[in-house]
Amino acid sequence: MARFLITSALPYINGVKHLGNLAGSMLPADVHARFRRMQGHEVLFICATDEHGTPAELAAAEMGVDARAYCDQYHEIQKAAGEGFRLSFDHFGRTSNPPNHRLTQHLAEALERNGLIEERTTRQVYSNADKRFLPDRYVEGTCPVCGYEKARGDQCDNCGSLLDPVQLKNPRSKISGSSDVELRDTAHLFLRQSKMQDVIRAWVDKAQGWPSLARSIAYKWLDEGLIDRSITRDLSWGVHVTKDGAPRPGFEEKVFYVWFDAPIGYIGASVEWAEATGQDWERWWRTDKGADDVTYVQFMGKDNVAFHTVSFPVTIIGSGEPWKLVDRLKAFNWVTWYGDKFSTSEKRGVFMDQALELLPGDYWRWYLMANAPESSDAAFTWEQFKDTINADLANVLGNFVNRIMKFAETKMGAVVPTEGEPGPLEKELYDDLEERLARISDFHDQMEFRKAAAETRALWVRGNEYLQVAAPWTALKTDPARAAVAVRTGLNLCALFAATAAPFIPDGAEAIRSGLGLSGEPAWPMGAKLFELVPPGQAIAAPPVLFRKIEDADVVAWSERFGGG
Ligand code: MF3
Ligand code: ZN
Repeated sequence: MARFLITSALPYINGVKHLGNLAGSMLPADVHARFRRMQGHEVLFICATDEHGTPAELAAAEMGVDARAYCDQYHEIQKAAGEGFRLSFDHFGRTSNPPNHRLTQHLAEALERNGLIEERTTRQVYSNADKRFLPDRYVEGTCPVCGYEKARGDQCDNCGSLLDPVQLKNPRSKISGSSDVELRDTAHLFLRQSKMQDVIRAWVDKAQGWPSLARSIAYKWLDEGLIDRSITRDLSWGVHVTKDGAPRPGFEEKVFYVWFDAPIGYIGASVEWAEATGQDWERWWRTDKGADDVTYVQFMGKDNVAFHTVSFPVTIIGSGEPWKLVDRLKAFNWVTWYGDKFSTSEKRGVFMDQALELLPGDYWRWYLMANAPESSDAAFTWEQFKDTINADLANVLGNFVNRIMKFAETKMGAVVPTEGEPGPLEKELYDDLEERLARISDFHDQMEFRKAAAETRALWVRGNEYLQVAAPWTALKTDPARAAVAVRTGLNLCALFAATAAPFIPDGAEAIRSGLGLSGEPAWPMGAKLFELVPPGQAIAAPPVLFRKIEDADVVAWSERFGGG
């Protein structure tokens, strides 16, 4: 038994997340966590809402509530959506909670002692009307490149240019709208990443468990040269800046930059978990407290990779303290909406809460993992969604389970038949399944979700082929013992399908298992017991229809409501 620490990138607090966010980090992390638990490993699976920064402050202001109230509300909404999708976090924490604040301040002080944080004076936009410095996104003005009048301080949404607020023409405050702004000197803390260039490169060179997408992104940043970055912002919502445990003079109106504290939130949320459950978090995170034995696996979208392979490692390695570093990093491309970005304002795409109004979580989980954006972006389309669900879940899996279990229920006295001995047909099936199962395990182990799903489906197809040939409905008239073997094998196949599908479709798997009279958590099927999953003589009951078919009319209605089609 090994130990796996698994984290999903922390979703931003603002708004409900869409299916792309789910598919690119939280869902695959959950599938992997379930697989590892089923193998019997000890798993700590952590996620949290990423609550600080300008987007949260702006979203709160738009709703006319303060940032904390806004975050309280959206944390609950996101938590409920995660539960609806059966995301099996051991803890879903918050970066705004005290453990993350304490750890962030602690790490910053450690970095400063090690000469890796420096106070520097910068020129920044100050609003006289608001009596405060404006962070990038709080400045609006005319884009110097294309002339668009509503460019943001950090970026022009019209031409895409990355900007510095001082470049904007006619700058004004986004808070008050006032153009009574000027440039003033102000101090910020800089993380001296340049000093860590060699240390980080050596660490990336050594990293074995990173797929190529993650490695190439890390090297791109290293090759360009790490630059020192400001890690403070002029905001009130965030982690306050301290020195020797007290508010840092000159920084009373500033907080740490959200990307500085967010990854520390992985540790913070683990501390929350420990406080809530009485467990020990240090054996997961401190290599001096046993975390050397832990395999740490991170899941994220590709835009997050640089922060996890460079900035966060600078923070925790630079602290000089024995923190656990990532061992395996799985990065994803984007799920797009018919090739475009998801967008709430433009009514493009389905968001997590809405998805669950249409269909239960399993349908989305299966579709998104079977079409995971691994080697490239993957476009969601209603047509493909319908085809995947109908072919894989309704036809191949659903029909198999329904057919054999109904037959056992009506023709075999609703128990697992006891008579007969397996013959060559079964032997051939067992050998084949054993090989296939090893392949599925390998793909899960390598976190190749698309391939794992495809092999899982292939297992269902193989089961259908067996049943077609074994044909208990025919055998029943001439050779009842043969029919009994076929039905018993078919019921074992149901149990095998439930176990192998459980990481992807936990509710469907549970429905099958309960129909078979199996209780408790499913284990990953291995070795000799592979075909003795349901005890002969055990009572069974066919479950109600597992997966309904998606109709053309559904596609029409959903396309109208959400776009696409
Ligand atoms: N909130 C970020 C995003 O959605 C991810 C933060 S990951 C963490 O892109 F490392 F900061 F936690
Ligand atoms: Zn522009």
